[in-house]
Amino acid sequence: MVGQKLNKLLCNYQMYYMNLRGFHWNITGRKFFELHLKFEELYDDAVIKIDEIAERILTLSESPIHSFKKYIEESQITAEEDITDGELAIDNILSSLKILLATEREILQLATTANDEGTVSLMSDYIVQQEKLVWMLSAYKQ
Ligand SMILES: [Fe+2]
Repeated sequence: MVGQKLNKLLCNYQMYYMNLRGFHWNITGRKFFELHLKFEELYDDAVIKIDEIAERILTLSESPIHSFKKYIEESQITAEEDITDGELAIDNILSSLKILLATEREILQLATTANDEGTVSLMSDYIVQQEKLVWMLSAYKQ
């Protein structure tokens, strides 16, 4: 059950990652330099988490999903295309973070019930970091 939910989280992260790459590449305008860099920082962080989630699934003796087809099918985060506007990209990131945080909180609950301390610790680290990121992105938008 924890493994299944982690796979759902993995699918969402892969879509989030690819969207971030698109934002990094396609962003235009006066804030290009800062946003281009910020989006790179975010996808570098996402790719580390993707590997940690997949390896946690393996640690729990289950199998991480690794096909684009399934990522698209199982993810709540949808593929974005041709976003060039920084505000739109940040709004999209904030709604993706909402989905990621909700899934991580669900996993945290399940893992707590299952006495799965490793997953609890991983999820609580992600939640702390992403709550801070939501604050920062929201502050940037003001
Ligand atoms: Fe680049």
